[in-house]
Amino acid sequence: METVVKKIDPEYFQDIELQKACQILQTGGLVAFPTETVYGLGGNALSAEASDKIYHAKGRPSDNPLIVHIADMEDLYDVALSVNKKTLELAKAFWPGPLTMIFPKKENVPLSTTGGLNTVAVRMPSHPVARALIRCSKVYIAAPSANRSGRPSPTRAEHVIEDMDGRIDMILDGGPVGIGIESTIIDMTEEIPVILRPGYITEDMVKGVIGSVLTDPAIVAVSPDKNIVAKAPGMKYRHYAPRGQMTIVEGDLAAVTEKINVLVKEQEKEQKKTAVIATEESKERYNCSRVYSIGSRKSEGSIAAGLYDILRQMDAIGAEYIYAESFAEDTLGQAIMNRMLKAAGYHRIKV
Ligand code: TXA
Ligand code: MG
Repeated sequence: METVVKKIDPEYFQDIELQKACQILQTGGLVAFPTETVYGLGGNALSAEASDKIYHAKGRPSDNPLIVHIADMEDLYDVALSVNKKTLELAKAFWPGPLTMIFPKKENVPLSTTGGLNTVAVRMPSHPVARALIRCSKVYIAAPSANRSGRPSPTRAEHVIEDMDGRIDMILDGGPVGIGIESTIIDMTEEIPVILRPGYITEDMVKGVIGSVLTDPAIVAVSPDKNIVAKAPGMKYRHYAPRGQMTIVEGDLAAVTEKINVLVKEQEKEQKKTAVIATEESKERYNCSRVYSIGSRKSEGSIAAGLYDILRQMDAIGAEYIYAESFAEDTLGQAIMNRMLKAAGYHRIKV
């Protein structure tokens, strides 16, 4: 299949530019599109055949449910069976935006979209291209991140092309996304809602709106615990992983730098291709020819936005051993470390 790549300027575009994409969605095809978090791989959420195509294109296990993207509040009532007061409060505070909420599903949402579950995950993205696409196509869009299963989520159209060229009908290239890590997922079917995946909307932000919220213990675990089963099926898979072996080194920054320099030297002696994931503040301190700055410690947002691109670059250069600095696990740092620990297969050392 030939994949058409179409550039769209998110600041300035007309709906007519989305006409072909809308037609593809309406006729059961797949279109990758930018959202404010990561690029999504979209298909008609109410069509079992379109969902099956998404799983196939991604190479994703079919028990891992998709997120249904909507553009307007009334859309929610078409797919969610019950909507409570807390949901309305969270929607008012964070929609459109990087928050996904889980509800009991309505009959019309096929089980193949929800990975066989009786619940459905719904998100109203804020990205202008995503919103226009949902509205013009009049299709609720089921969209996982537009990466091949196991690869880091795409934060630029180039990443989507790498993974999906020849596998889907169209890619809308809206340039790099703003946030760079996937939405926060919160299960609204529980009496006290539970965060199943950390993201840009933090636990404290949610608490500020609805008072109490819990976090799935599988998220805060320091390593995968066989006794703790993640409630979001997707959280159990080894995601975001570069092919090389990644190690996160934690501690005082001076000690971390020193330790990483020792580890790099050891591996290079063995002729291994090593790389360091550093920050703007520390990148000059390493004795390694492959030092990558993920962003600035002065801005957690820049770290989140740079993370997946750096992980992809590790594969592009064929890094065999990757040493990364760590980040404080508060606010956005919790989401950043959650993704980095998965990338490292929970391999971390403290100095
Ligand atoms: O930011 C995002 O959420 C991006 C953009 C494209 O919107 N999408 C995304 O989708 O990250 P995906 O498929 O890569 O991740 C969806 C996650 C998976 O971990 C999945 O298991 C979980 O959401 N999920 C979906 N429906 C669920 C449900 N009914 N119950 C529990 N977890 C669910
Ligand atoms: Mg994903």
